[in-house]
Amino acid sequence: MNNNFQKKLQEIIRVDHAGEMGAKVIYDGQIAALKLKGDLETVELVAHMKKQEDVHFDYFDVEIKRQKIRPTLMQPIWKIGGFALGFFTALIDKKAAMTCTTAVEETIDEHYQSQLATLEKEEEFLDENQKKEVRVLKEKIQKFRDEELEHRDIGYENKASELSYFAPLSAFIKFTTKSAIAISKKI
Ligand SMILES: [Fe+2]
Ligand SMILES: [Fe+2]
Repeated sequence: MNNNFQKKLQEIIRVDHAGEMGAKVIYDGQIAALKLKGDLETVELVAHMKKQEDVHFDYFDVEIKRQKIRPTLMQPIWKIGGFALGFFTALIDKKAAMTCTTAVEETIDEHYQSQLATLEKEEEFLDENQKKEVRVLKEKIQKFRDEELEHRDIGYENKASELSYFAPLSAFIKFTTKSAIAISKKI
C-alpha cells in the first residue's frame, strides 16, 4: 500500500478511536449526573446512545490493536474532559445535555462525511486486497454515521434548541470537539 495512504488510514483509525472513546465518556458523564438528579427517563434515553457508542468504539479498538497503531497520547485528557463535559451539562439542565449531544454529533457527522470522501477518492488507486479493506472501513463509518445522526435527532427531539444559551454553548462544544479531532490526528 502506498505509504502516504497507509499513514492516512492509520490517522483515520487513531482519530476515530479517540472520538468514539470521547463519545462514550460524554454519555457516561451524562448518565452519572442524571442518576444523581434522579432523572431515570433521560438515563434510559442516553443509555441507548451510549450502547451504540460502545459498539463504535469496540470496532476501532480492535482495529487499532490489529494494525498496531498507537492511540492518541491525549486519550487520558479526552477521557477526563469528555466525562466532565457530559456530567456538567447534564447536571445543569437536561436541555444543555441535549445541546452537548447535538453539537458533538453534528461535528462527528461532518468528520465522518469528510473521511468517507477521502476514502472514496483514494479507492481507485488501490489493489484488490486494499480495496476490500477500505470497503469494510467505509461500511462501518457509514453505519456509525447513521447512528450519530440518530443521536443528533434525539437531542433536537428533546428540546436542545430551546435552551436559552443554545447557540453559544453549541458553538463552544463544536469548537472543542473540532480541536480535539485535529489534535488526535497528529498527536
Ligand atoms: Fe459514535
Ligand atoms: Fe453518537
